[in-house]
Amino acid sequence: MARFPDLWMGELLEKNDIVSVISGYMQLKPKGRKFWGLCPFHSEKTPSFSVSPDKQLYYCFGCHSGGGVIHFVMEMEHLSFIDAVKLLSERAGLVMPGFIDGEKMQQEKAFKDRLYAANKEAALYYHSMLKSDRGEKARKYLSKRGLDARMITRFGIGYAPEGWNNLTGYLSPKGFTTEELLGADLALQKDGRVYDKYRDRIIFPIVGTNGKVLGFGARTMGTEQPKYINTSDTPVFSKRNNLYGLNLQKGSRIADLVIVEGYTDVISLSKAGIANVVASLGTALTEQQARLMKRFAGKVYICYDGDSAGQESTLRGLDILRKEGLTVRVIVMPEGADPDEYVAANGKDAFEALKDRALTLPEFKLERLASKFDMSTADGREAYALEACGFISTLQPVEQERYIASVSRKTGLSLETLAGQVSISAVDNKNSIGNYRNTKVKKQRETLSERAKAERTLAMCLAKDRDTAMYVLKKFPPGRFGEQAYENFSLELLSIYSEGAEADVPLLLSRLEEQDAEKVAQLFVDDEGFCDMKSIADDCIKAIERADIRSEIVKLSEKAEAPGLPETERRMLIKKIAELQKQLI
Ligand code: GTP
Ligand code: MN
Repeated sequence: MARFPDLWMGELLEKNDIVSVISGYMQLKPKGRKFWGLCPFHSEKTPSFSVSPDKQLYYCFGCHSGGGVIHFVMEMEHLSFIDAVKLLSERAGLVMPGFIDGEKMQQEKAFKDRLYAANKEAALYYHSMLKSDRGEKARKYLSKRGLDARMITRFGIGYAPEGWNNLTGYLSPKGFTTEELLGADLALQKDGRVYDKYRDRIIFPIVGTNGKVLGFGARTMGTEQPKYINTSDTPVFSKRNNLYGLNLQKGSRIADLVIVEGYTDVISLSKAGIANVVASLGTALTEQQARLMKRFAGKVYICYDGDSAGQESTLRGLDILRKEGLTVRVIVMPEGADPDEYVAANGKDAFEALKDRALTLPEFKLERLASKFDMSTADGREAYALEACGFISTLQPVEQERYIASVSRKTGLSLETLAGQVSISAVDNKNSIGNYRNTKVKKQRETLSERAKAERTLAMCLAKDRDTAMYVLKKFPPGRFGEQAYENFSLELLSIYSEGAEADVPLLLSRLEEQDAEKVAQLFVDDEGFCDMKSIADDCIKAIERADIRSEIVKLSEKAEAPGLPETERRMLIKKIAELQKQLI
């Protein structure tokens, strides 16, 4: 992340009082030492969004988003850190510092600007080609697929004509160098010859949330392979970090997003009036893309093709989205259909109805399981019920009931029978070898989460005041936090305090990544700190140390149990484990 000079950043923050900036977006009412309002990042009826003028922080007690004024603008306007700083500097009438991170960064930025410019020119060129005489075949193709003029404009669709030097011949006289054309991946080079990358293909420009053209997807109109040629990663485009269609999601938070597989799915759904749709860019869904979606919505519907590959990707996508803390649902396409064809044939309402019936994760897993059995025979249904009950027994007891009901509907077996089977499976789980490992892993997770709790409290001690922070930093120097946000926070604090400076919270937050800042901002929220933070810190450090010893023991015992381990080594491990256990007493 770019670091701006502290002096400049200090002035920026001073001139952008958080209460006044946020008041420009929403209504705030004073109460106590804070201001309150309805959170713009989740829907609510009573205000749980608070702004502290003293600390220049905001925090929502409902959705836990929080940070300084820069993070508010990032979240509200869907901007990157630098762009949010830019916006605030304009608001305050400040000039952005001429250099951000030295000369190299300046040069890189200049090159990137050239690539953006080349991409924009290329997109305009392809679009004009589609409308010209040379684009007739392409227009016919698009119209056959139901993509009308409105969609062509909305998505900036274009056509790359046949021939080797159309785009290069157009851009070179405009002053774009070969290095820039190759850099943007608009042209390729072979034996010293530079030629257009996309030839005789439909062009789908990929536009970033910053409104700039990042790259292109290019589809053949025929049957040749590959069907799509896409921009490779360039300095301005990385397919793992972007989503097709995200640029069209205007405004602040939307209720939910739908993720589909293809460009044409996004466009068809948009045409039908379903706007909150994005597509991953020809890769399996990535963590970065999940995080990106989280900036816009709290709930994501996966809507992949109804074939088996689509279903496999759904399963992987679900896990990735859930890990980022998103609520996930699966829209199930009828066998063999894709969202594009489905909505074209059945219309918006039919799609909305599918969305209303979207499955939760366990429902989806149970559906997939059912498809593996012959449900038309009693044998098949019983075999399915057995497996399904095994799966249900791993869910929380309160969740079990509705899934038992769904298995009952599918198999005709009674609720009592199935509930009985679930509890037998639960006991089996406990006794089986497989689960012996599971409980171990679970135990390890528990110690980890205990450790996480202790880390959080310890980080709160760091946030208390200089005296407490120095005490903690001495006993628990940076390098030991498992949570990266706290680790970075303690590093920043150490550097500030050891210079003899005072920790300026908003300034400090501005140095952290968005996600780190959010976690750190939460540490400052509780006003009523405890009096004796030092002894609390001591307790936390002890708890962290004990948790580490316990994980070490789990690790060593797993090693000791490994088959084929020489007896001498096993003995050594057991001795080590015993020593560690002594430390826990
Ligand atoms: P249509 O076949 O025109 O409906 O396009 P689609 O967008 O629905 O494509 P499909 O469902 O087959 O594939 C989903 C996405 O995967 C596409 O939008 C592309 O991003 C990507 N993709 C598909 N085929 C290829 C290919 O041959 N090469 C590459 N690199 N990506 C592809
Ligand atoms: Mn398709």
